[in-house]
Amino acid sequence: MKGKKLIAVAAGAVMAFTLAACSGSGAGDDSSADATTSAAPAESNGGDAAMEKGTIGVAMPTQTSERWIADGDAVKKGLEAEGYTVDLQFAGDDIPTQSQQIDSMITNGSQLLIVAAIDGTALSGQLEAAAAAGIPVIAYDRLIRDTPNVDYYVTFDNYKVGVQQATSLLVGLGILNEDGSEGDAEGPFNIELFAGSLDDNNAFFFFNGAIDTLQPYIDSGVLVVPSGQTEIEQVATLRWAQETAQKRMEDLLTANYASETLNGVLSPYDGISRGILTALSNAGYGPTIADGMPVVTGQDAEIASVKLINDDVQFATIFKDTRKLAAQAVVGALSFLDGAEPEANDTTTYDNGVKVVPSYLLDSDIVYKDNITSLLVDSGYWTADEVASGVAE
Ligand code: BGC
Repeated sequence: MKGKKLIAVAAGAVMAFTLAACSGSGAGDDSSADATTSAAPAESNGGDAAMEKGTIGVAMPTQTSERWIADGDAVKKGLEAEGYTVDLQFAGDDIPTQSQQIDSMITNGSQLLIVAAIDGTALSGQLEAAAAAGIPVIAYDRLIRDTPNVDYYVTFDNYKVGVQQATSLLVGLGILNEDGSEGDAEGPFNIELFAGSLDDNNAFFFFNGAIDTLQPYIDSGVLVVPSGQTEIEQVATLRWAQETAQKRMEDLLTANYASETLNGVLSPYDGISRGILTALSNAGYGPTIADGMPVVTGQDAEIASVKLINDDVQFATIFKDTRKLAAQAVVGALSFLDGAEPEANDTTTYDNGVKVVPSYLLDSDIVYKDNITSLLVDSGYWTADEVASGVAE
C-alpha cells in the first residue's frame, strides 16, 4: 500500500509539470463531497494519481465562522497552484463527521493531511491509520493532542493572542493606553470572562495569556469579577457557539447585575462577542460604547465584528492573517512532499501530551477602531465597503 502510493507520487511528480494547468478546476467549495465517499475509490484513485501530483486532504471544522472558509479556500488555492488536487471538507463542527471525512481522505489516497480539528483529542485512530499509510499530518491552527502521529503545527502565537485580548480590555477601560503606557482610569471596574471550547487546545492558550495579564489588576481590586467565575472550566463556551455565549451573558446579568453595572467583557472570539453584545443590548446597555456599552474584546476580525468596532459597539478584535497561515501550511506541505522537514520556529511550546510538535508561529495584531484601515483595509483583508456594510463581498 505504502510502496504503491510512493510510486504513484513519483509518477505524478513527473507529469505534474505539464498537467498543473489542468488541475484545480471544479473542486470548488466541495463541502458536500463527503456524502459521496466510500471505501471503494482507494484502488481506482491509484490510477488517477499517476495523472497528477496527487491529492491532499484538508479538513476544516466548520463554515459557521468565516475564518475557516477563508482558511480552507486559501490552502486549497495554494496547493492547487502547485499542481495538487485538494479534497477540502468542512465538518459542521460535528466530531464524528470530521473523523469520517479524515478516514475517507486516507482511504481515497491522500498524500498528506492538513487538519484543523474540532476536538483536538478525538483523532488518534484516524492519525494512526495515516501514519501506517505514510501520510504526513499537519495540524492547522489547532494542536492535535494525544497522538505521536502529527508531524508539524502551523498556528499563531496563541498565548500572545490571549495577552492581546486582555490588553485590549485594559485599553478599553482606560487602564492602559494603546501604546502600552498607564492610562488615567483607576477603577474599580466590573468585568466578566469568557473562554473558548475546552476541546480546543487554543482555548487554554488564549485564556492563560489573558488571565496572566488581568490577574494583577484583579488582585489589586482595579478589576472585579462579580460572578466570581474566573476558572476556564466556569467560563468556557462549547464549540465557541454564539448562542451559548449569549445565554451565559444573560444569566450573568440576571444573577449579578441587578444593581451593578458591567464595564467590560473578555471575549475570545468575535462570534462569542456578538452573542455577548446581543445579550447586553437586550438588557438595555448601549447601543454604543459612548452610551455605556461595556468594553467587549474579540478575535478573528470577522467582518460583522469589524463593522461593530467601526460603529463603536465592539471595542476590539485580534487580527490573525489567515492568508499567512494558509501560505505556511502550503510551504510545510511542500517540504514534506519533497521528503524534507519543514521549518519550525518553535520547538518547545506545543506539547500535545505525547510529544512536542515542531511548530511555526505567526504574529497577530490588536484591531481598534483607529487602525482598521491600516491593518485590515490597506492589507487587502477587507475593503472599506465591506467594513462599512459588515458583509463580505
Ligand atoms: C481559533 C480562533 C477561532 C476559534 C473559533 C480557534 O481555534 O484559533 O481563531 O476564533 O477557534 O473558531
